[in-house]
Amino acid sequence: MEKFYITTPIYYVNDVPHIGHAYATIAADAAARFHRLAGRDVYFATGTDEHGLNIERVARAHGVAPQAWADRISTAFRDLWAGLHIAYDGYIRTTEPRHERVVQAIFTRLHEQGDIYKGTYEGWYCASCESFYSEAELGEDRTCAVHTGRPVEWNAEPCYLFRLSRYQDWIQSHIERHPGFIEPEAQRNEVLSFVRSGLRDISVSRSTFKWGVPLPFDPDQVAYVWIDALINYITVIGYGDDLEQFRRFWPADVHLVGRDILRFHAVIWPIVLHAAGLEPPRQVFATGFLTFGGQKFSKSLGIILDPVAVSRELAEASGAEPAVAVDALRYFLLREVPFGADGDFNQPALIGRFNADLANDYGNLLNRTLPLVARQFGGVLPTPGPAEGTDAALADLARAVVAAVGEHVGRLNFSQALAEVWRLLGAANKYIDEEAPWSAIKQGRTDRAGTILYNTLEALRIATIVLSPVMPVATQRVWEQLGIEQPLEDQRLEDARRWGSLSPGLRVRTGNPIFPRIDTRPRPVAAATAGEGGDPVSEITIEEFKRLDVRIGEVTAAERVPGTDKLVKLSVDIGDEARTLVAGIATHYQTADLIGRRIVVLANLQPRKVRGVESRGMLLAATWGDDEVAILTVDGAPPVGSRIS
Ligand code: MSP
Repeated sequence: MEKFYITTPIYYVNDVPHIGHAYATIAADAAARFHRLAGRDVYFATGTDEHGLNIERVARAHGVAPQAWADRISTAFRDLWAGLHIAYDGYIRTTEPRHERVVQAIFTRLHEQGDIYKGTYEGWYCASCESFYSEAELGEDRTCAVHTGRPVEWNAEPCYLFRLSRYQDWIQSHIERHPGFIEPEAQRNEVLSFVRSGLRDISVSRSTFKWGVPLPFDPDQVAYVWIDALINYITVIGYGDDLEQFRRFWPADVHLVGRDILRFHAVIWPIVLHAAGLEPPRQVFATGFLTFGGQKFSKSLGIILDPVAVSRELAEASGAEPAVAVDALRYFLLREVPFGADGDFNQPALIGRFNADLANDYGNLLNRTLPLVARQFGGVLPTPGPAEGTDAALADLARAVVAAVGEHVGRLNFSQALAEVWRLLGAANKYIDEEAPWSAIKQGRTDRAGTILYNTLEALRIATIVLSPVMPVATQRVWEQLGIEQPLEDQRLEDARRWGSLSPGLRVRTGNPIFPRIDTRPRPVAAATAGEGGDPVSEITIEEFKRLDVRIGEVTAAERVPGTDKLVKLSVDIGDEARTLVAGIATHYQTADLIGRRIVVLANLQPRKVRGVESRGMLLAATWGDDEVAILTVDGAPPVGSRIS
């Protein structure tokens, strides 16, 4: 049996996870599930990176020991993965004894063969990246270019160095001879030019703090956290304690990594493996970065998007089962952004996809077909008659789509793979519209109506199997309504390839919509003004308008006003000063989601006390209906304080 071994980066436990971390993990999970569906022997590994200076400092700042801190955050990661339907085969924590033993074994070997030697290393260090940078790589005023504004520290200490330079020619020719080794192409070129510019030996141990794996040949030193972390990929499949399993899965087929950590994976890691006599991974694939409203997720800027909160909101807005909403988020992340490119996460796009793709194209196809089977055939799937009209074309398309999905997922091209499934769903919707079983029934051609319904449900069965890796729970719900006896998890890609596998005679189970549509229609403006009993708005002069000081502000903090349902207290930077505003938006916005947003503020409104809080200015928002509110936002990124005229 062909094997497939895929990994995510192991996540630092300095802080709780956000949607950026969830992104690569969801992608790896979908790929792993798809390869299982295709009948491969799959190992999917993830875990947490728990050593290093930064984590030691963060733990200390919280007044707990590093191990206790790591235990807490590692649990938060595992809880999140359970909530997001992540089915990993192995979870590794770098503080586990099995891992520490492997790290020590690799260091010993490299030391004994002279690849690691004692020396000193001097350079600028960013503790958040856990990485050294040359002067040229730094941002302004000696800050980290990755962690904007964060000062780097000068580091000079006795340590062990690894002879990266010795392997320069080897890695260069390896990358050159294996075009698919680094993906996407642009990232490969970037790494290749970095390698061609020359590799320096790197520091691989630290002596100024203790939170790491002690070197067996010099206990005053701990292993550099990055080497420690990279080694996880061999520990987790059994390098130290289950050699048989290790041999079955190594080399990894794909290491999924963020672009920011690509060099560690595509240069340093293959060299360490090669030096230790092990094969390099087959592919390192760099994922893009997700932003929110164009900004990086960042704790310091207050932009942290909790994927569970996002899906909970989606469930509340739609009335979908919470686990189905989680799957909708999984679908959205993989569909919306071509894998490998950067993408922006935003609520309207999520709702748009939910309504158009899931509620309409997928869910509604089921909801319009099953009741007809119930009504005309007593809920029992009829035996299809001879092919007519566009029947054969639909079957051909289904076969082509399943083949294309396999190819796209093989290249981690999730958005294209999903677009293919929607090509099938689109065709099936068109098929039922054009073949019109309801007309066949009216004409007394009940058999023909049965054939059309059979074919439509067959297209749905096939789409549901190939979608199951992306939406494992939601597809299960569809499967239940289709009434197919064999469990969805026992299906293989083979079953999706075979048109006509749906058994006549099975009893469908018409149920509630699995993806209930989210109502986004604004009420007509006229009705809203009339409802408020207001006079029609009278004209004003431009001079009157100019008296308004309307500006761009940025929310720096947000909290609910205690004892109220609707009120939020906002701290807003309006350019030359910080303002406190009170706004009635709590039923529509989570406070955490407001932080970092650019809003529009009427700055020269007379101050007013609201529930004991002085509000100095007003946040502008559209209001309609009984209780609908939407904050005004602006196009592009005008600086805070910009006047609106
Ligand atoms: N611990 C190291 C990885 C060691 S792997 C041997 C690390 N951890 S991290 O928690 O900081 O980041 C883990 C991954 O999350 C990285 O691949 C990083 O690119 C990714 N992401 C962090 N924020 C992200 C987004 N906003 N969007 C997409 N991916 C993001 O680095």
